[in-house]
Amino acid sequence: MTQRILFVCLGNICRSPSAEGVVKRKAAQRGVNLDLDSAGTGAYHVGEPPYAAMQSAAISRGYDLSNLRARQVTRTDFAAFDLLVAMDADNLAHLERIRPQGGAEVVLFTDYAPDCGTDAVPDPYYTRDFDGTLDLIERCAEGLLDALEAAPR
Ligand code: 4NP
Repeated sequence: MTQRILFVCLGNICRSPSAEGVVKRKAAQRGVNLDLDSAGTGAYHVGEPPYAAMQSAAISRGYDLSNLRARQVTRTDFAAFDLLVAMDADNLAHLERIRPQGGAEVVLFTDYAPDCGTDAVPDPYYTRDFDGTLDLIERCAEGLLDALEAAPR
């Protein structure tokens, strides 16, 4: 069965589209079939492509985010996806607040990289550390794919 995974941050222009792009390429390299998307808890940037500085940092590592467009997460996403992956505790709390009965599991992305020393993917829109964010996202992505391969659904 193809696992459907939605990555969630605040604006859907930095962290979650990057997570989507990174996991997409790493899954393809491993031959793992996934349906991926990303969304924001806020509606500030709906319809916009990923933030220019984020795209630049990503493309220099081979991740092309240019076709992605921001959207807001909805309650229907809990049925449309198997797993919702939040970038920080605020995103996680938002998802738990809007969660209908049942539906997708909600996890923190950093849970897949327990040695990374943080429980949040810092927001580069504010930190300006786009490469540091990508470093962390790549570690979490490997951990997520390891977990999926260890316990396929
Ligand atoms: P993201 O970063 O949640 O990683 O997409 C943000 C980008 C923009 C805003 C918030 C977060 N904003 O409020 O404009």
